[in-house]
Amino acid sequence: MDVFDAIKTRRSIRKYSNKPVEEEKISKILEAARLSPSAANRQPWKFIVVRDEETKRKLVPACHNQSWMAEAPVIIVACALPSEAWVRSDGEEYWKVDVAIAMQDLILEAWELGLGTCWIGSFREEEVKRILGIPDEVRVVALTPLGYPAEEKGPVTRRKPLEEITSYNHW
Ligand SMILES: Cc1cc2nc3c(=O)[nH]c(=O)nc-3n(C[C@H](O)[C@H](O)[C@H](O)COP(=O)(O)O)c2cc1C
Repeated sequence: MDVFDAIKTRRSIRKYSNKPVEEEKISKILEAARLSPSAANRQPWKFIVVRDEETKRKLVPACHNQSWMAEAPVIIVACALPSEAWVRSDGEEYWKVDVAIAMQDLILEAWELGLGTCWIGSFREEEVKRILGIPDEVRVVALTPLGYPAEEKGPVTRRKPLEEITSYNHW
C-alpha cells in the first residue's frame, strides 16, 4: 500500500474485533508518530498506550459515552507538552498542530498494517487527565481506539470538491 492508497482507503472504524494487536505493530505505529515533523523539531508530544480493560472502560464516559471505543484492544491517547513546543513570533502556539500531524501519521501507519482507528476529539480533557494521571501542564489533543476492524467500509467519500477548497495566486 503506498501513501496515497492509505489516504484514500483509511476510514474511521467504530467496530472492532477482540483480536489482540501484535506488539511489533504497536511499536511500528508509535515509530511513525516519533518520526513525524514538528515546528522547530521540538517533538512536543507523548503517546499513552492503554491496554488495561478497566482503564479503557473508564475512558468511555470521559469521551461522552462512545462505548465502541473500549471494544478495541488498545486506546492511544495523544498528549502535547506545550512548554516544549514552538511558538510563532505573534504568540500563536503550535503544539496542537504538531500532535495532530503525528497522530495522523500514526493512524495512516496503523491502516497500512491492517488496523483501524478513529480520531476522538469529543472528550472531557480534565476527566481523561485524571483517569490517566496526566500532569496539569500537559494537554490531551486526541484519542484513538486501535484494533482490527470488524466492519467493512469503502474508500473515503463525502469530501468537498477540489475546486471548492483550492484557489491559485489569491483567495
Ligand atoms: C479532530 C477530529 C475529531 C474527531 N472526533 C470524533 C469523535 O469524537 N467521535 C467519532 O466517532 N469520530 C470522530 N472523528 C471522526 C470524523 O467524524 C471522521 O473522520 C469524518 O466523518 C470522516 O470520516 P472518515 O474518517 O471515515 O473518512 C473525528 C475526526 C477528527 C479529524
